[in-house]
Amino acid sequence: MKLTVVGGGSTYTPELIDGFARLRDTLPIEELVLVDPAAERLELVGGLARRIFARQGHPGRIITTDDLDKGVEGADAVLLQLRVGGQAARQRDETWPLECGCVGQETTGAGGLAKALRTVPVVLDIAERVRRTNPDAWIIDFTNPVGIVTRALLQAGHKAVGLCNVAIGFQRKFAALLGVTPADIHLDHVGLNHLTWETGVRLGGPEGEDVLPRLLAEHGDRIADDLRLPRSVLDRLETVPSYYLRYFYAHDNVVRELRTKPSRAAEVAAMEEELLRMYGDPALDEKPELLAKRGGAFYSEAAVDLAASLLGGGGSPYQVVNTYNRGTLPFLPDDAVIETQAAVGRQGATPLAVPAVDPLYAGLIAHVTAYEELALKAALHGGRDRVFRALLAHPLVGQYDCADTLTDTLIAHNREHLAWA
Ligand code: G6P
Ligand code: MN
Repeated sequence: MKLTVVGGGSTYTPELIDGFARLRDTLPIEELVLVDPAAERLELVGGLARRIFARQGHPGRIITTDDLDKGVEGADAVLLQLRVGGQAARQRDETWPLECGCVGQETTGAGGLAKALRTVPVVLDIAERVRRTNPDAWIIDFTNPVGIVTRALLQAGHKAVGLCNVAIGFQRKFAALLGVTPADIHLDHVGLNHLTWETGVRLGGPEGEDVLPRLLAEHGDRIADDLRLPRSVLDRLETVPSYYLRYFYAHDNVVRELRTKPSRAAEVAAMEEELLRMYGDPALDEKPELLAKRGGAFYSEAAVDLAASLLGGGGSPYQVVNTYNRGTLPFLPDDAVIETQAAVGRQGATPLAVPAVDPLYAGLIAHVTAYEELALKAALHGGRDRVFRALLAHPLVGQYDCADTLTDTLIAHNREHLAWA
């Protein structure tokens, strides 16, 4: 089996390698290719990756290259984890929306739109080159904004599934609180990427007992603290929203807070410097603790599980993925991309049926889906008007004067990445 990681020079990669090494029976990789244009970084990350494999006795070969076409040739699956413009572009996404009183975040709101505009054309170009060399390869997309990027890939006819670690994070957290293993937890997970609610927490599988009421009664304070939302909000929702819902439910508070502290991008950039320094130490042969401070902790487990299922191995039968709606949420178009529990196998992902969604969530899901559709149009075809329409449609923007200012600022900050600007 051959796997290729595009953006393999990411400081996150050792997380992935650790997952591949530990779960090698589920995913027997013979060759792992890390593709990245940043040669120096790739060598540091590649060196550590090889040492992790060696320490864990993994027989697979790890190859590093900046040649995408060669890297994906013959791959069974290609993982996309790139960041166009790096942390510097992210830093800007997190900053300029604040001037308008809007949240500054890498995937939510105007910053997320900027990221989509920079990223979609690059990802589509990569996917096209993967298809040309290797039409059967699965594309697993971690590249944010995952909902919009996955929709772009599917719309262009690629064999793609989008992935995020939010669900697997909750699965692990709830398992720990309940004293069971993560595999025992099945989440009823509803919404879009970075806009989800856990509406049920079942033991054993999709038909298992729903222990969410008990979980909230016994551990509500802890769960609310981690989400930085008041316990009373969770009790009234009777669900667990993802931490991205804080940007909606506590928008103005978040904006005030973000204005007074360094951006997440700055924090991450400092962490990355430290991580790369550690990766260069030939004595290091495991993923460092510091990686757990990154938001994507444990994403390797979701990746291994998904790749194993798509490639016919022994992954979990049901996984939370991003895929076409196809009637699952009847209030959305069939070709919207939702984040949902799906049966996953060689044929791809088939969403499980979802019971009627409370209007409390359905309204916001529909609203953001409409924004995502407009955002994708703007990313594919460019133009100031299309950017404006997407921002006006976003529930966290919505007013024309703000949308106008944000449109101009977005374009000004991203000109070098926008072919049409
Ligand atoms: C979560 C999200 C990812 C995102 C990450 C950011 O894991 O699911 O989509 O990339 O957070 O983490 P960072 O450490 O870069 O802030
Ligand atoms: Mn995510």
